[in-house]
Amino acid sequence: MQRILSSELSSYVNQTVRVRGWLNNVRSFGKLHFLILRDRMGFTQIVIQNKEEQDKLLGLQPGSILSVEGTASLSTQAELGVEIINPKIEVEVPISAVCPVEYYKPEIPSDLEFILDHRSVSLRNRKLQAVFKIQAEIAHAYRLFMHEEVKAVEYFAPCIIGASSEGGAEIFNVDYFDYTATLAQSSQLYKQIMVGVNERVFALMPFFRAEHSNTPRHLAEGKQFEFEMGFFEHWHEILDVQEKCIKYIVQYLHKKCAKEIEILGGTIIKAPQEVPFPRLTFAKAQEIFFQRTGIDERNEPDLSPAAERELCQYALEEFGTDLVFVLDWKTSKRPFYSYPKEENPEYTNTFDLLCAGTEITSGGQRRHTYESMVEGIRLKEMDPANFEDYLSIFTYGMPPHGGFGMGLERLTMTILKLKNIREVSLFPSDPKRIAGNRIKAKLFFGGENIRNEIIHLLKKHEMEFTHVTHEATPTSADSTRARGEGMGQGVKALILRGKSSKKNYQCNILSNRKLDMKAVSELIGEKCEFEDAEVIKERFGLVLGSIPPFGSLLNIDTFFDEGIQKEEKVSFNCGLITESIGMRSQDLLTIVQPKVGSFSKE
Ligand code: 4AD
Ligand code: MG
Repeated sequence: MQRILSSELSSYVNQTVRVRGWLNNVRSFGKLHFLILRDRMGFTQIVIQNKEEQDKLLGLQPGSILSVEGTASLSTQAELGVEIINPKIEVEVPISAVCPVEYYKPEIPSDLEFILDHRSVSLRNRKLQAVFKIQAEIAHAYRLFMHEEVKAVEYFAPCIIGASSEGGAEIFNVDYFDYTATLAQSSQLYKQIMVGVNERVFALMPFFRAEHSNTPRHLAEGKQFEFEMGFFEHWHEILDVQEKCIKYIVQYLHKKCAKEIEILGGTIIKAPQEVPFPRLTFAKAQEIFFQRTGIDERNEPDLSPAAERELCQYALEEFGTDLVFVLDWKTSKRPFYSYPKEENPEYTNTFDLLCAGTEITSGGQRRHTYESMVEGIRLKEMDPANFEDYLSIFTYGMPPHGGFGMGLERLTMTILKLKNIREVSLFPSDPKRIAGNRIKAKLFFGGENIRNEIIHLLKKHEMEFTHVTHEATPTSADSTRARGEGMGQGVKALILRGKSSKKNYQCNILSNRKLDMKAVSELIGEKCEFEDAEVIKERFGLVLGSIPPFGSLLNIDTFFDEGIQKEEKVSFNCGLITESIGMRSQDLLTIVQPKVGSFSKE
């Protein structure tokens, strides 16, 4: 018998049907059992009364593959208004392994880190599935728009390239036979080359950025919607294309993804067709931020994240749209290819588009003569010799042109009003993860190795620190005394053990405070106790009193009490009870990247 999908069930009322899918969950009410089966379109409810059929499910975990034949029947209780009764169940692939992540619940009851730790299965969750279905439709809408409305030609550019395409330090190098190549930060140079061929071009390209910051809006690898056009009369025509594009995508989602939007809570950003996105010059945008908040960033060359949020709030309140353009940025803040304004070359014909609080696009007009482009490259202290292919297009004729790059993940995140960009990347890479997987920390064992590594790290990051030798100090209070003045407040590093997981955690507090075990347990999510000294010696090669607040080097989750952050300088034993390091607490946080919470008491 042919398989039907959950979405087709209502066309088969009172007929025998066959469905196949994953066991999602089973709900039991006395003798009645409701089996919920997941397929690519949604869920089917199957009512099982027969004991023999019920027994087939014994011991089966979510994820088991089932095939079920039965009668489609109207029901007021089923989500689809139809359910299957009198089923015959065939277990195709029985699964007995218990999955640590409860993806089969409407919402996974775990934090984002845990969800990412189990990415491959957490993606099966209904909400996560909806996010990535919408993302796929965004990409589809973009392509449709570029084909149908703009008549642009798609191109496919290389990702391993010779020269930086955006300048700056955020470049990944790769070993390329005997050379060093770079991973493309964008396909900027190639889209300009392709304007010389097709005038209007677009792409969806991977980009790589060595952004060493853990923000909710930066990834190390992402996708960019690229667009470039030649022969405009005024560079604002690029903004017109960008604006139509967003409106097209939002309208398309309302048409094609009503169900997924509903699953995610029913609302997405506002971009009404009839409301133009406000177009503010950079100076005007800064002024509006100042007027609305009293925070004066009018001399800053960039918009702060707070300003980006406020400007979007302004657009929403004043015009009823979540999007706003900011135009005419300082030359110093834009890449080498940006077109300097004729009336004032300290500014450029460039723009950012902000959406629901975050930059989603940068774009603008490009320099289009050979002399101007070489000048742009030199102004940024780069070498024109590295841009040979690219520069040749200007030797052989380029029209006035420009375009934009819009982050797929930024766009998905802001359209859906989600908080963290990792939620909209299937397998996110950032300083802590590669393609979703946590980067395995290099493990260090023993006091001297750990001390050497700490000193190595501090030097590498060019951080100031003091390193002193003193008498053996078994407690942190002794250490603080032995170090003397000027080294800063002592930090006590405590190694705990989760009572149920048996995992180790490191909790760091100021040495004049005590650990609030209840607060710690709440923060970590399980009851904790102190790890035994012998275990610490055996596992990490450290004696009590010598442990530095660098749980990251021991590959254990590390927590800092807020008090540490508030100190200017801190000091700690650096792996040995006879040696201490003093440094700025802000630097310590930057290197260790702990979770910060409030878990100490007097
Ligand atoms: O602002 P960016 O760096 O501009 C360019 O790449 C230019 N080539 C665009 C142009 O045509 N002039 O990057 C463009 C967009 C950003 O606005 C953002 O949406 C996304 O790409 N993006 C990132 N998204 C997540 N994580 C990162 N590290 C990102 N870097 C850029
Ligand atoms: Mg930008």
